[in-house]
This record gives sequence, C-alpha cells and structure tokens, in this order.
Amino acid sequence: MLKYFFTVFAFLGLIVLAMAGFRGAKSTRPPIEIFPDMDRQPKVKAQTPSGFFANGSAARPPVDGSVPLGYTMPQQKPVDGEADASPYKKIIFSGAPDYTDTGKMGENWGTGLPFDVTPAVVGRGQERYGIYCAVCHGATGAGNGIAKQLGVATVQSLLQERIRVMSDGEIFNTITHGKNTMLGYGDRIQVPDRWAIIAYVRALQKSQGGATLSDVPEAGRAKLEAGQ
Ligand code: HEC
Repeated sequence: MLKYFFTVFAFLGLIVLAMAGFRGAKSTRPPIEIFPDMDRQPKVKAQTPSGFFANGSAARPPVDGSVPLGYTMPQQKPVDGEADASPYKKIIFSGAPDYTDTGKMGENWGTGLPFDVTPAVVGRGQERYGIYCAVCHGATGAGNGIAKQLGVATVQSLLQERIRVMSDGEIFNTITHGKNTMLGYGDRIQVPDRWAIIAYVRALQKSQGGATLSDVPEAGRAKLEAGQ
C-alpha cells in the first residue's frame, strides 16, 4: 500500500515541479501557466500605439457629448423663439459649488427655492415625490410608506416639527446625499427635480396642520372664513 502511495506521490511531485517549478528560469518559450489569472488582458495602456485603430494611436477621444463628472453639465439649447423660463430646460446632475447644487449659502444651509415656485413646479414635485419618496415616507409624508410597513423601521415623518422648520438647503442635501439610514438620490433625481420635491414636501406640510389664513390668496379668505 505504502509503495503505491510513494509512487503516486513522487509522480505528482514531478508533475507539479515540471509545470510550476521553473517559473524563474529563463527561456524563450512562453511559460506554462496553470492559473493565468489576469496576466494578459485585451486592453491598451495610456499613450501606447495600437494597430487596432486606423490612426495607430491607442488613445481615443471621448464620445461626443461625454461630460466629466463633477462639472456642471451643459444645458440644453432653448428651442428657437421659445423663452428659456423652465428650469427643466436644463439637464443637470451637477456638482457645482453654488446654492442651487449644494443647498449651502457659504458655510450654512440656505433656504428658499432657487427658481420660482409655480403650480407646474409643485406638480412636477408631486410626481417625483410619488416616484422616489412615497414608498418610504408615505403619500402624505407621514412616514408610513409601504417600505416602513415592511420593515424599514427608521423612516421619519416629514410632517414633524423638526423637518417643518428645517431649511430647504438641508433637505436638498438629504435628497442628494442621504442621511443616516436613508440613501442618497443625487444620482437619480436631477437638481431642479430635487427642489421641486422640496416645494411639494412644503405643500404637504402646509396641507396637514401647517397652513394659516395668510397662505390662502386674499380672494379666497372671505370664503374660508365664512366656512365654505
Ligand atoms: C428607502 C426609503 C426611503 C426613501 C425612498 C426616502 N427616504 Fe427619506 N428617510 C428614510 C429614512 C430611513 C430616514 C431616517 C434617516 C435616519 O435618521 O436614520 C429618512 C429621513 C429623511 C429626512 C429627514 C432627514 C433628517 O435630517 O433627519 C428627510 C427630509 C427625507 N428623508 C426626505 C426624503 C425625500 C424628499 C425623499 C425622496 C426623494 C426620501 N426621503 C426618500 C428613508 C427613505
């Protein structure tokens, strides 16, 4: 029994030695590789020539329309004759350091939307809120979305006093980068949409216990006071 063991052992030893033992030895033949891993990759290195492309250079210019990360994206050109009033004329996921892109005025969170709040903006915010936020924070902002019911226990109500008085800039930052157990949505929600969502969150807060008579346009106040 032991005899076979030694024979097989010696044989295996020879195989391993033959295949792996001479890796440091010089030879003009390519080495035998048992695990080539990623030794050779079909890639080009920076600043090297390449016969693959017609101009002989491995470096390629970026595809038309590429935008470097961290810079303001170019804005869509307004259609001829059309006033460029809508914030949605811009396609932006920008990382620019201004208030619109950070929510910060100097060192502090700023407040106020960087563009006019029109019914269209609030409508857009409502739509985006429904897509991105309602699943956790609930359709009314009460923090009772389906994800909360299914176990995301830390979801907060957006109607609580702390968030009612929180500056718009800080909420903008929460949407962009997330906060504690909430993930950031900055890579999915464009900058103007983040602000539109904030406008809608403010509307939700007002609609539930936060509105005063002064929020109602003057023409409608008399009607309200008359209890209609
Ligand atoms: C996947 C679930 C989820 C989604 C979707 C979500 N949130 Fe949150 N959000 C949370 C959780 C969880 C917290 C509490 C974070 C913590 O303090 O741990 C939170 C907290 C917040 C806060 C309070 C942050 C603070 O300073 O305490 C705000 C404001 C907020 N979310 C706004 C939004 C908005 C606006 C959206 C949509 C763009 C959104 N959230 C989408 C889960 C979510």
